[in-house]
Amino acid sequence: MSVLALDAGTTGVTALVVDENGGVLSRGYQEFAQHYPETGWVEHVPEEIWQATLAACQSALDGTDDQPTCVGITNQRETAVLWNRKRGSAPRRAVVWQDRRTAGICAELRDAGHEDRVTEITGLRLDPYFTGTKLTWIRRNDQRAWSGVESGDTVIGTVDSYVVSRMTGGARHVTDASNASRTLLYDIHRGEWSQEMCELLGVPLSALPEVVPSYGTVGETDPEEFLGLRLPIAGIAGDQQAAMFGQNCYTPGTSKCTYGTGSFVLINTGEEAIAPQHGLLSTVLWQHPDGRLEYALEGSIFVTGAAVQWLRDGLGLIDSAPQSEGLAASVRDSGGVVFVPALTGLGAPDWDPHARGAVFGITRGTQRAHIARATLEAIAFEVRDVAEAMAAASGNELPELRVDGGASANDLLCQIQADQLQVSVARPQVQETTALGAAFLAGLATGVWSSTDELARTWNLDRRFEPGTRDDSAHRRWRAAVERSKGWAQL
Ligand code: G3P
Repeated sequence: MSVLALDAGTTGVTALVVDENGGVLSRGYQEFAQHYPETGWVEHVPEEIWQATLAACQSALDGTDDQPTCVGITNQRETAVLWNRKRGSAPRRAVVWQDRRTAGICAELRDAGHEDRVTEITGLRLDPYFTGTKLTWIRRNDQRAWSGVESGDTVIGTVDSYVVSRMTGGARHVTDASNASRTLLYDIHRGEWSQEMCELLGVPLSALPEVVPSYGTVGETDPEEFLGLRLPIAGIAGDQQAAMFGQNCYTPGTSKCTYGTGSFVLINTGEEAIAPQHGLLSTVLWQHPDGRLEYALEGSIFVTGAAVQWLRDGLGLIDSAPQSEGLAASVRDSGGVVFVPALTGLGAPDWDPHARGAVFGITRGTQRAHIARATLEAIAFEVRDVAEAMAAASGNELPELRVDGGASANDLLCQIQADQLQVSVARPQVQETTALGAAFLAGLATGVWSSTDELARTWNLDRRFEPGTRDDSAHRRWRAAVERSKGWAQL
């Protein structure tokens, strides 16, 4: 038996066929275009996400003789998508989680005194990151697209919701509780859309998807729309929550960090939604089929892997992301250079949509390698800052950190990370844990696996990085540099 797992990420769609031992039988990947119509704006064309989904799934299916028995879906979270309920066509581009255009709307709501109540209901904060204010922006600025929402022809959702709608030929308009909890419209304690938040942000509740548990069959793919296949859709979760599932972080206190476009550190807090402090968020981890919700504290860092991509695409400093490791390893340290990769503002723990990227400490002796080293150090410093916030919020140090995602293949980064955290960093054999988690959710619902204990036995260690000496003076310079990068876009 096998499962088709789909990860509709920020820059591309990954599809895996996963067997019952948790092994990857085949994979497919398809990138799609990023649109930057104005400074700080990031948009996706929904149809391009859908076409990339079809292409990635087709190539994963072509790579194996195995016929999957169900589908699991995970996705970039928070991105706001509008589409026609029946036809699936989108009246405008999606506004992506990285998009900063609603900084002014967030400030307006904060000045009007709403932030504490928003956090109390949603576990989140007033930041352009989340879906809600993106919808407010569309309502105020794109009346043509919004008129369909008002008439009931156009529906709203995150990327999971859009993909399920397309896969089912418009039959299902659903999202799972982990994705709903990222919208700023969902009451994480009551486990339902919040009327109060919908009114505050001007979003009609009737246009939102039905919220379903993170595993359990919610519909079937329509063979005419989805590669001739009729398969149960049996698992849905936001990518960071799915990665927690794929890393077997099922019990309170377990944690992981996924290094993707950004990096997201989550710690399982069980059935208790801890009030967020120290720049962290409280979020739904998953919802069980019996309705029980489990929660996590999350530190969302917006730019980590994307900083390495920028070295490649923006600066031409390297030809490929993996090259950053060799280049950074060719010098002992960054030579005093500090890079703050606030390329789309700062997320946790500093939260400043007006911060911008900065490189400090350049001298005549600075070389490419120092910049590459400073980039890897920055990723490790960002994760350390979040881990320290988590220790302060939960009263416990992290026992170890499980890592996954693209940049976790970088040994030097993992070692710097262990040194900075002073805890061991554990890397599993399968590092595409996000898609794996979606497979686990769907397979658990359909009997491919019978329990999380059985899933936990599929986790195999690739390598453990033990902490060595920590350079705290470098971290002090980093903190000073972060402070200097704040507010830049407002000057
Ligand atoms: O919250 C944003 C996150 O879901 C995006 O993840 O891996 O697609 O960059 P990724």
